[in-house]
Amino acid sequence: MEFKRLNAIVTGAASGLGLAVTQHIIAAGGTVVMLDLDAEHCADELTLFGEHAHFIATDVISVPAVDAALKQAHALTGEIQLVVNCAGIAPSQRVLARDGLISNAAFQRVIDINLNGSFNVCRAAVNLMQHNNPAGKDEERGVLINTASIAAFEGQIGQAAYAASKGGIASMTLPLAREFARLGIRVMSIAPGIFETPMFDQLPQEARDALAANTPYPKRLGHPDEFAALVQHIVENPMLNGSTIRLDGALRMGQK
Ligand SMILES: NC(=O)c1ccc[n+]([C@@H]2O[C@H](COP(=O)([O-])OP(=O)(O)OC[C@H]3O[C@@H](n4cnc5c(N)ncnc54)[C@H](O)[C@@H]3O)[C@@H](O)[C@H]2O)c1
Repeated sequence: MEFKRLNAIVTGAASGLGLAVTQHIIAAGGTVVMLDLDAEHCADELTLFGEHAHFIATDVISVPAVDAALKQAHALTGEIQLVVNCAGIAPSQRVLARDGLISNAAFQRVIDINLNGSFNVCRAAVNLMQHNNPAGKDEERGVLINTASIAAFEGQIGQAAYAASKGGIASMTLPLAREFARLGIRVMSIAPGIFETPMFDQLPQEARDALAANTPYPKRLGHPDEFAALVQHIVENPMLNGSTIRLDGALRMGQK
């Protein structure tokens, strides 16, 4: 599918990876409907993007809110060809912490936002995309891209909930791709290593340096525009379907 002049929905678009994807799509002449909780930050970005972006305040946990947001997005832009799910949280909490046992609610919240939230958006999106006009020689109708993490494969101590949520994203990629194949809709996931985004704002410089040093090559954190570049390649390469691509400079996480 052509990356130029796409209509896209990006969740978590106010910050980090989602913001970089939004900027990249707009730079290629596309229009983005930005879904996020963070209206304040999105308002700043909207001023820059002008008519190429819209913002709908949405909590991806809420099925009615997601369904309504996608309908509204469709009314604003017409056919939506691309969805990129970047909304997520990454708390770290041991099951048996010094101050007590992790609550089930804390575990559930991570699953709700990262996994169920991505599913909610895919579900509403495919319902719209199935009616798109097929485009190009492969008669594509759309592309869904979810954000996993290398924690899906080597979660560290304290990441049981996060790793489970991201493992769920990686695991649902193939069955969704198989199911939507007859519609010409592809499904892919990206599993980033460590990227320089506001998610790690609290991390001290020492810890950042250690993470960078652990990355075989290049010895640094990833830049959000490198994530956006992979989104573009996935859109453009129709053979990419049903799998999760690691984007991590060969980083393999240790126990903690
Ligand atoms: N930065 C990394 O190193 C890294 C590595 C692996 C995976 N990831 C994943 O990439 C995704 C994006 O992370 P980031 O680094 O850009 O983080 P970020 O904190 O910069 O951005 C996340 C965005 O998601 C939004 N969000 C959170 N909960 C939401 C909800 N319930 N509904 C709607 N929006 C919500 C936040 O408001 C924020 O704008 C996350 O899923 C994260 O787990 C990031």
